[in-house]
Amino acid sequence: MLVAPSILSANFGRLNEEIKAICDAGCDLVHVDVMDGHFVPNLTIGPVVVQAVAKASSKPLDIHLMVENNTFFTELFAPLMPKYLSFHIEEEKHPHRLIQKIRSYDISPAVVLNPHSPLESIEYILEEIDMVLLMSVNPGFGGQSFISSSLKKAEKLRKMVDKSGLKTLIEMDGGVNEKNVHELKNAGVDIVVAGNYIFSSASYKNAIDSLRV
Ligand code: DX5
Ligand code: ZN
Repeated sequence: MLVAPSILSANFGRLNEEIKAICDAGCDLVHVDVMDGHFVPNLTIGPVVVQAVAKASSKPLDIHLMVENNTFFTELFAPLMPKYLSFHIEEEKHPHRLIQKIRSYDISPAVVLNPHSPLESIEYILEEIDMVLLMSVNPGFGGQSFISSSLKKAEKLRKMVDKSGLKTLIEMDGGVNEKNVHELKNAGVDIVVAGNYIFSSASYKNAIDSLRV
């Protein structure tokens, strides 16, 4: 299992040290939640701060856009060269076009599904993307409880990906901890995002290790 700490739960007063600490603790990716106050009822950080995150990080960035205008935000964040740039399918009229745009920057495109969104909505773009991010909470805030139907969804997506002979990664975001990570592994999840669980722990290393099942 790969582990991507969500910096939403970090101490933003000492963000630089927090980023260095999770990288030293052995995380695989640094998950950055970008919220615009429209698509979700919360507002986070823009490119100036994410640039500082990128500079502090020795690990690739995984940028999760929770915004209304995906094209505008893609153009804003692409120059920071994250490894993954993911956008919500619920908010995109032209996903195929946006995927091509993200790829044109040499960034891996990923699509995010809210807990209620059916997997059928990505059936015809699955082969175009490198990762599917399944939300296991309603996007907007850290520290929420895992929505259990996400497990069934991950199992179904695993079958879809394997049946198509694709290498598309499955990432799960929201309410992940050392208790539910085993079920996620069994369901075929490749990467877990964890905010509250890692940043509220006494040892980031122990927390990250406990998710590496
Ligand atoms: C929620 C974000 C998540 C969140 C996860 O909108 O996308 O990345 O920070 O935090 P936890 O692990 O605390 O649920
Ligand atoms: Zn996220």
